[in-house]
Amino acid sequence: MHKDIEKILISDEELREINKRLGEQITKDFEGKNLMVVGILKGSIYFMADLTREIKLPLKLDFLAVSSYGSSTRSSGSVRILKDIDMDISGYDILLIEDILDSGRTLKYVSDMLKSRGASSITICTLLDKPARRVVDLKADYVGCSVPDEFVVGYGLDYDQHYRNLPFIGSLKREVYE
Ligand code: IMP
Ligand code: MG
Repeated sequence: MHKDIEKILISDEELREINKRLGEQITKDFEGKNLMVVGILKGSIYFMADLTREIKLPLKLDFLAVSSYGSSTRSSGSVRILKDIDMDISGYDILLIEDILDSGRTLKYVSDMLKSRGASSITICTLLDKPARRVVDLKADYVGCSVPDEFVVGYGLDYDQHYRNLPFIGSLKREVYE
């Protein structure tokens, strides 16, 4: 356990089970489709790496980066593309991978943008969902786990760029960010 972590919410063992379950479901649902998996940097890297190895289908990988929280725990409300995907996505069935769905602004912005580029379909897969904090009308197609309204870190998720490499998801002690 790390000194700044209040409580482990999802263990590495549970993360493996989530990836297996989602991978099997996605493998069934995307059979015969033209799959491109697009990860939102940087939070999705571990999830993307583990999940895609549970998807038993041919696929392409790409990434994009959007503006993030900075050192605050609240969303700024505006989304900006910092790094765009490299490939032409027209005709592809896009599976968007995100670490956590909070207000919903990031995924709404990114999915609308990819839709306008001629993707055949856009499907959203998020490791974590905080439904209590939604401000935009958006639902994920695949959810690893719902979490309470606490600030969580680890397995890709950060606070001020720290804690991403923790092998579990934990809630951060309030004194760290207050
Ligand atoms: P949204 O646009 O408000 O849905 O915010 C999504 C982004 O906010 C995620 O990609 C995360 O980077 C960040 N975020 C939201 N909640 C948390 C959290 O509890 N821990 C770490 N990052 C978070
Ligand atoms: Mg993020």
